[in-house]
Amino acid sequence: MPIQPILQKALLDWFKKNQRDLPWRHTYEPYQIWISEIMLQQTQMDRVTVFFTRWMDAFPDITTLAASSEDQVLKLWEGLGYYSRARNILKTAQLLIKNHQGKVPDSRKQLLALPGIGPYTAGAIASISFNRDVPVVDANIERIFSRLFNIDLIPGSPEAKRLNWQKAEELLPTGHARDFNQALMELGALICRPGNPDCGACPAASHCLALKYDLIPERPVPKKSKKIIPIEMATGILIHNGMVFIQQRLADDVWGALWEFPGGRIELTEKPEQTVVREFREETEFEVEVESKIINTVHHYTRYKVTLHCFFLRLVGSDTDPVLHAAQDFKWVFFKALQEYGFPAGHRKLITYLEETKHAITKQTH
Ligand code: ADE
Repeated sequence: MPIQPILQKALLDWFKKNQRDLPWRHTYEPYQIWISEIMLQQTQMDRVTVFFTRWMDAFPDITTLAASSEDQVLKLWEGLGYYSRARNILKTAQLLIKNHQGKVPDSRKQLLALPGIGPYTAGAIASISFNRDVPVVDANIERIFSRLFNIDLIPGSPEAKRLNWQKAEELLPTGHARDFNQALMELGALICRPGNPDCGACPAASHCLALKYDLIPERPVPKKSKKIIPIEMATGILIHNGMVFIQQRLADDVWGALWEFPGGRIELTEKPEQTVVREFREETEFEVEVESKIINTVHHYTRYKVTLHCFFLRLVGSDTDPVLHAAQDFKWVFFKALQEYGFPAGHRKLITYLEETKHAITKQTH
């Protein structure tokens, strides 16, 4: 016997024995399947069963639903989220009355033309209600296939989608779509779970390539998480004769034309207090010494987490004119005047910290 029918039979037999008793599994009535599938799109099964029962009590058929107001429908949907689903259901119900003799159509093509019904939902309704030979693929089935066929494509990518729909079509046993598609859904929910799959109880285990090659932890291929890059920087508030040194960044640089306290990235071999002395020398030709540590500010950008080590500095010598190498302008200002200038977030946090802790520098009366 070829592999395919053995796998199909294993899944169908398993579903017969193990399927959950869900409210919409009693009749296969298309209206009920449609509503359950829309509710299940973004919502946990437990919640859906409660909402589904309430819904069917309030709107027992398409005619009742189509004659209801959007307010009534939304009220019943309250707590389920993604409210466009409810609005689309009402629009579809009215279209069904108008164009389909009040009935849910049985063809994938007609279903796809209705508001809120995409390829998955059209496949689910056509197969579960009408036992049409139509495949379904959702995120759960993608996960099953990624393991069963050892697919090393990023889930949800166009290539993965194409391959998964092709696999679903090839695997579908003619005449059994109703149970087979639900068997896949049920397997994804109960056995082939996202984390901690129960491979020991899986009816497809002997066919599963990821299991065979010990690749279950890598299937589906983990989505590339956008890694946040940590950046360590040092900066210093240089105070001389009660005034604070600030410089204005170059216009075409990051944070262009904002004001800042000089500083920069901490090199691998450096301590933060060495960085700040070096950066002042490179950017201003000032020789400075660290007076004291203030704090570390932390700021999150889309792709970076910047930790800024902040110090108070004093000038070595008395020349207060810098030679600017990384800025277009500079000023010696009273602490209070810092309010008048735009600073990058980390520097602004430092200023706010000094104000909130009522540091001596903030009490200047000038
Ligand atoms: N998830 C989405 N639709 C489902 C269904 N009909 N049965 C089980 N899980 C599902």
